[in-house]
Amino acid sequence: MVPSSATRPTVLIARRLLPAGLDQLAAECEIREGELDASTERLLELAPGVDAIVADPAVTVDERLLDVAGSQLKIVANFAVGHDNVDLEACRRRGIAVTNTPDVLTDATAELALALTLAAARLMSEAESDLRAGRWTGWDPAAYLGLELSGAVFAVVGLGRIGRRYAELVRALAGEILYVSRHEKEDAERELGTVRVTLDEALARADALSVHVPASPDTDHLIGRAELATMRPDAVIVNTSRGSVIDSIALAEALREGSIGAAGLDVYEREPQVPSELLGAPRCVLLPHIGSATARARNAMASLVADNVLAALRGAEPPNRVA
Ligand code: 8YV
Repeated sequence: MVPSSATRPTVLIARRLLPAGLDQLAAECEIREGELDASTERLLELAPGVDAIVADPAVTVDERLLDVAGSQLKIVANFAVGHDNVDLEACRRRGIAVTNTPDVLTDATAELALALTLAAARLMSEAESDLRAGRWTGWDPAAYLGLELSGAVFAVVGLGRIGRRYAELVRALAGEILYVSRHEKEDAERELGTVRVTLDEALARADALSVHVPASPDTDHLIGRAELATMRPDAVIVNTSRGSVIDSIALAEALREGSIGAAGLDVYEREPQVPSELLGAPRCVLLPHIGSATARARNAMASLVADNVLAALRGAEPPNRVA
């Protein structure tokens, strides 16, 4: 139990938390909720005096919000594995713990990356929209000719938990699995036969390249115009990490010019905005950031958020601390 005091601790849920986490928190804390459309101004109104903030990738946790919340704030628990929306340094300076929700969304996100790889390779979005719009007039031997992935060279950029699971999932299809990482991953090399290469080599050789690196100044537009230009003209590129990693305007151009085969995207540079260039680009499957959207993953994420908040409020070390 959270130590009892005259007043129960207060938790600000910046947007929405599923009952799997909310019910645990509500049993011991007062809850303030911003709701899905909470503006920055609304969050600043709700923040004063809270002991914990539950954020998600759509919530910017910066100096201003932390200052308005006040010095009693103990934890920012992010409902996501990525935490680029939180100013970690500002939290460290104030002694505020920051936590995320690793592991429980690894399978869901890697599975979505696989789904996007297959859907993009086989032009599924265009084929389905044609059918739904009544443009399918009959079987055509030359229509929707996609890329076959059996025996393909797969490249995984970032072999963390999700990248590694993606590598496991594509193993049955892959002729070869390349990976790009700052560190050698001996386990993955031994167990999955993955081969470490430079980003340049991965770009040049991949039939399917999937991005699994976190957003950071180092990965901002890691794949831009110059990098896209070195890819095979029939290659498929997939991004389920963060939109900032790929220059979306350059990607839209490459798709239009035919210098790349297809793309599958779940994330965008300024969500929920999707650049009109991408919306109008051919051979592109676009999803609304649903990487972790399975009931199993989201419930487990919500429950981890509550575990982290309650631990911090009890004065214990939260289990998923990133800062
Ligand atoms: C979404 C994600 O954040 O965990 C992450 O970093 O990008 C996804 O899990 C999540 O779906 C939004 O709450």
